[in-house]
Formats: sequence, C-alpha cells, structure tokens
Amino acid sequence: MYKLTVNLADFLAQYWQKQPTIIKGGFASFTDPISPEELAGLSMEEEIDSRFVSNLDQNWHAEHGPFTEQKFAELADSHWSLIVQATNHWHAGAAELVEPFKALPQWLLDDLMVSYSVQGGGVGPHIDQYDVFIVQGMGKRHWRVGAKDIGQYKETKRHEALRQIESFDAIIDDVLEPGDVLYIPPGFPHDGYALEPSLSYSVGFRSPKEQELISNFADYVLAHDYGDKHMDKPTLSATEHFGQISADDKQTLTNMLMSALQDESTIKDFLGCMLSQSRHQLNIIEPEDKWSAENVAQHLANGGAIYKVAGLRALLHEEEPTMVYINGEVFKLPEAQTWLARALTDSEVIVDIEPNSHVVPLLTELINKGYWFID
Ligand code: SIN
Ligand code: CO
Repeated sequence: MYKLTVNLADFLAQYWQKQPTIIKGGFASFTDPISPEELAGLSMEEEIDSRFVSNLDQNWHAEHGPFTEQKFAELADSHWSLIVQATNHWHAGAAELVEPFKALPQWLLDDLMVSYSVQGGGVGPHIDQYDVFIVQGMGKRHWRVGAKDIGQYKETKRHEALRQIESFDAIIDDVLEPGDVLYIPPGFPHDGYALEPSLSYSVGFRSPKEQELISNFADYVLAHDYGDKHMDKPTLSATEHFGQISADDKQTLTNMLMSALQDESTIKDFLGCMLSQSRHQLNIIEPEDKWSAENVAQHLANGGAIYKVAGLRALLHEEEPTMVYINGEVFKLPEAQTWLARALTDSEVIVDIEPNSHVVPLLTELINKGYWFID
C-alpha cells in the first residue's frame, strides 16, 4: 500500500494549480509496482496507448505502439523512453499508485502514465495543460521546471508530435530519486532526463475545457433530441433595414440559448454522463455467460466480492446521491439505497452486503455489462 508522507489537504491548499514543487521522499522506501519488462509487455497490446521516443544526438523520433518483440531486441542503450498511458487500467499493481490520490475527485483523475527511460531518455521541454504528480521509481531523473507560461515560450519544429518548446529558465532544477514526487500545475514548462535506467509514474489530473463542455453539451442535446423547436415570436414588425438583426430578435435568440443552459436537471445529467466517461480505454469484458440474479445473490451470501473495473468512473452528484452515473450511463437507485450508491462510487470492491432484492438486480446488470466483475 502506498502512502504519501505529506498531508494531501495541506498540499492542495498551498500548491494545487499554483506552484510546482518537489516533495522529497513523498513515498518512504518506494518500491516499483511494475517492471520495465511488464511495461514493454503492455506496450505490445493493441488496446493500450503507448509511445516510444528517442533523441540520440538531438535527433528526435517518436512512434506509437503497439510494439513488437523485435522493437525491444534492437534498442540502443541510451536516449530513449517508453511511455504507456492509463497503466492503472491494465496493471493491478500500478493501479495501487493511484490510491493515495483518491482524496481528489475521480472525475478530475485522468490516468497513471508510466515511463521507462534509459540514460538520456526524455520527451524534451514541453508544456502540459494537466496537473501532474510525477513519482520517481527506480533510477534517477534530472528535472527542470520553468515559470508559468504567459505566452513567452516558443514552440519548436524539432518534432511535430512532441510539441516541444525552446529552452526555458529553471525555477526548479533537481534530481529525483526513488520515492520523490514532482508536482507540476498546468502551464509550467518542464523537462526530465533519465540519468540512469529510470521509471517514472505520472498521476495526471485534467479538467474539461470550456469548449469541450460546450461541444459535448451540443452532442448531448442532439442525442436526447432536446430543444427541437424554432424561435416562436408572433410579434414581428416591419423593418426599414432588410439586412439588420434587431436587438430584440438577438435577445430572443440569446434567451433560447440561455434557457437551454439553465435547465438544471438537464445540466446535471449531462455533466454526470460526460464526466463519468474515461478518456482512456477501459478493460471492460462482458461475461460470455451472463450471470443470473440468483447466482449473484449466492455469491454475495457466500461472502464473495464484486470488483469494479480499474479506472471505471462511477459518480454521483452531492445533491442527488441515489442517481449514479457510470461510464456515461445513468442508474437510479431507491432512496433507501444511498449506501449502495456510495459503495459503487467510492470503493473498488463490493463485499459483505446483504443480497436483498434491491441490490441484486442492479449488481447483476453491472456485472453483465462488464463494469464490475467477479474474480
Ligand atoms: C515522461 O515521463 O517522460 C513525460 C512526463 C511529462 O513530462 O509529462
Ligand atoms: Co509533461
């Protein structure tokens, strides 16, 4: 079990989206949850998002996985990095490293990205729009972080896909050792090079952009066929100006837009559905033989556990704790089942519950969708 040596609440108050910082020894006696070989194994899988970046003699090269055995057989011994996204969705050990960060809301959590770099390996100077905690595992890595971007950093053309920037002055310049944690808020340029074979774990947090909210809301409105009505205004008067949009008409149209955004229950459902969808592929496997409610009840009665798929987002709104949003779907629970809604949204495992007629049908449905599973 991983435990931070700092108090996360105090840390957030001081640094979150404000200042980058290094937490020396953020994890005491840190042990890697995954090996470089296992990481290479994950990067060979079709459904797992991986990248390989090399930079020998400043020749930047980047390619996407999946990779083959062949790739790993012919590698140089320096100046490359292998990066695997959403490792927490595919590797139970790696998922453990997300646990200490669960004091932050799940809808903000993006993924755990793991990178294995040999000496000189890194992705070059760049700026992310993510909050990230970079946990150093085995080996040492030299990190530099610059001041927040206020439009002063120029993008380079060194490599299209890498979106690197020119050099920057460091406000943090240090070597991370196993268990150290570097926190970087969005907008701060950074650059990390391995000094020796190194594993780093980036616990990334990402909030939606305004334009994503608007475009996703438009999709949601269309999918649900809301607002299928034209402007209705029988008070039209003759105009001297054929080409003019009157201030009054502009106001009527603005009101139509605003009223769509002011429908609280639509917005609540929209946000629940949108925020409960992971941006990364999940390891959802629908059982070939569907579970019957009787068998699920029996399993629970025997003290059996039901596990949530790693990284699956199950959320509820504070003011409506019996409506559960799971992977973009809505599930309404009876008032008396608030505890179950909390168990689904706050825990990775459901166990020691009484298999009554309220809980069993829902759990059976969730198991048959592959959202929760029985080991
Ligand atoms: C890496 O681990 O190589 C990249 C992490 C980052 O800078 O975002
Ligand atoms: Co970065």
